Amino acid sequence: MKTYKIAAIPADGIGPEVIAAGLQALETLARRDGGFTVDVTHFDWGSDYYKKHGEMMPANGTDQLKPFDAIFFGAVGAPDVPDHITLWGLRLPICQGFDQYANVRPTKILPGIKSPLENVGPGDLDWVIVRENSEGEYSGHGGRAHRGLPEEVGTEVAIFTRVGVTRIMRYAFKLAQSRPRKLLTVVTKSNAQRHGMVMWDEIAAEVSREFPDVKWDKMLVDAMTVRMTLKPKSLDTIVATNLHADILSDLAGALAGSLGVAPTANIDPERRYPSMFEPIHGSAFDITGKGIANPVATFWTAAQMLEHLGEPQAARRLMDAVEQVSGKGIMTPDIGGTANTQEVTDAVCEAIRASN
Ligand code: NAI
Ligand code: MG
Repeated sequence: MKTYKIAAIPADGIGPEVIAAGLQALETLARRDGGFTVDVTHFDWGSDYYKKHGEMMPANGTDQLKPFDAIFFGAVGAPDVPDHITLWGLRLPICQGFDQYANVRPTKILPGIKSPLENVGPGDLDWVIVRENSEGEYSGHGGRAHRGLPEEVGTEVAIFTRVGVTRIMRYAFKLAQSRPRKLLTVVTKSNAQRHGMVMWDEIAAEVSREFPDVKWDKMLVDAMTVRMTLKPKSLDTIVATNLHADILSDLAGALAGSLGVAPTANIDPERRYPSMFEPIHGSAFDITGKGIANPVATFWTAAQMLEHLGEPQAARRLMDAVEQVSGKGIMTPDIGGTANTQEVTDAVCEAIRASN
């Protein structure tokens, strides 16, 4: 019997509510499957920890996380702590410290959920966006000079490296190859950005030769928003830079119906370090403590975690249960239902137990 060591960091706002739901589903799955167990350690890091200790996690936080098989993360953000402290104090040091360079964001329309797009239902939109998660426009390179003077300048330099681009392209082609349609769209902006983005295109073409069975095309990012909206069926796997994928994946989430169902995985494909799994949404102060947070994004990222750990059957069982429950209309108010977090969670666990 395999035991997976999971580090749970529920953190702020609705984070603890959705992580509790996710852990309940994971334990139900482990019991149903019988082939593995999960050994969960909780870390109380986040904004409350910051108010007591002046830091979001201890200085040796990543050392403490290193021995785990995976990290299950809720959300960070509190009304009375600045966002750049909460985000850069906890999530980013983990992503960067563990070189989680592939950010993987699946999107599809779940049964029972309505897309804002007319005549687009489950099956018409089934994408995975791969976001470069370690460099590009968010490398933090740049600065400001002559502050406050009329001559003030600010620079924000996008960094693209051959190593960084090659590894994300290889990851994206491999993922596309593993999906039935074997279809990849490389998002670019090489018409206007003639250095880094041209290199990005060239490396995509080079890497494509390793994957002759993957059909691929290239889209300028502005035109990509149009294609996502008007021809969602024409897309499958998508790879884009840190900034482009950040923006496109919000659009993807909206087109699929709600932020409350969108998951993400921050992956170190080389498995040198633990990877981190989280819902895309934040700490949602407006509904914290009301018991109505949508747990589906957290279930979905738990499925990504199981997949990564080498338990594809349990991952599929979990997603089948989630789809059965949403299909029956058992859902939280953000997607038009009347159920609360616990009722959705219990229904998903029941569907897991009843599955064959
Ligand atoms: P948010 O994602 O927390 O909430 C946006 C809206 O979506 C709210 O109306 C909220 O109620 C709703 N919502 C989000 N998740 C939901 C769920 N599971 N079920 C039902 N409704 C849900 O984004 P917002 O309000 O911009 O940010 C709040 C805080 O969260 C800020 O401090 C922000 O910095 C932080 N944040 C953290 C993220 C992370 O930890 N990865 C990501 C995004 C924001
Ligand atoms: Mg974003």
